[in-house]
Amino acid sequence: MILNTLLNKYHHRINDVLHQHIMQLPFKNISLVRAIEYALLSGGKRLRPCLVYATGAMLHVEETVLDVPAAAIECIHAYSLIHDDLPCMDNDGFRRGHAACHIEFGEDIAILAGDALQSLAFSILSESPMSGVIPENRISMLSELSSASGVRGMCGGQAFDLSIIDKERFTLKELERVYRYKTGILIRAAVRLGALAAGEIGVEIMPFLDRFSNIIGLAFQIQDDILDFISDRESIEKKLESDQNFSKKTYPLLAGLANTKIKLQNLHQNALSELEILSKQSFNTTLLEGLVHFIIERDI
Ligand code: IPE
Ligand code: IPE
Ligand code: MG
Ligand code: MG
Ligand code: MG
Repeated sequence: MILNTLLNKYHHRINDVLHQHIMQLPFKNISLVRAIEYALLSGGKRLRPCLVYATGAMLHVEETVLDVPAAAIECIHAYSLIHDDLPCMDNDGFRRGHAACHIEFGEDIAILAGDALQSLAFSILSESPMSGVIPENRISMLSELSSASGVRGMCGGQAFDLSIIDKERFTLKELERVYRYKTGILIRAAVRLGALAAGEIGVEIMPFLDRFSNIIGLAFQIQDDILDFISDRESIEKKLESDQNFSKKTYPLLAGLANTKIKLQNLHQNALSELEILSKQSFNTTLLEGLVHFIIERDI
């Protein structure tokens, strides 16, 4: 099967799995559940689930097992996006090509939908069957996901992000710390969850996987910034939108677009070099390589 077909397959697979979890929720007609469904099922690249599947596949873990951490991490991600768009955070009205959750359902329900998605993630990861995964490894997966979502990960990063918004000056080092926490650690968790599902062998190669994940996490957020930067600039040129988000602290704003693109190319090469080390140990890294190319070259 060619690479894109495989990654597409995972994309469809996770959409089905998430749909099934939504179907099992009670109170389908209340706005809270409709908001959860809206935020979770309307689009998204599904990068984190694909990282879980690609890492797990490299270690010969069954897809039905990987469905569990893949769905859990996407629920955490969807919750983080709902809260990220709120007026008290980034005040963004659009998400995944649609009105943001709080625009569609109101801030009160959007906050609750984020909260409920977070707990849904942990219900999925603690309760769904994962054949062959011993209880100790399930606990390691739960611990990984909770740590990567909290102060030591995404929430910490969102707070660092808020703390530099009003700063006149900030350094690339500060910005990279924001990125590492708000984006990178959850991306690393996706890879780690795929590895932990494999048990011992996953734990053994974790240091290599971590080095790889740290690089792609930074690359992913830098590419996100490049895309934001270009679209903000275009919208200002076309005077279609206010420039409220143009003051957002991004890599291109600090280092310039050309330097940012060079940085991204360097990260690209570094990520491939890390995979080469694994490939020399007879691991099939084709899917992870495909995801590296996607992260760097994506235009969505
Ligand atoms: C957006 O993440 C927020 C960041 C961490 C940069 P994604 O770009 O993965 O969002 P979706 O899931 O594809 O919508
Ligand atoms: C969002 O970063 C990171 C998280 C939601 C944790 P951004 O604020 O840069 O993401 P977008 O641009 O809104 O997707
Ligand atoms: Mg933000
Ligand atoms: Mg945002
Ligand atoms: Mg952004």
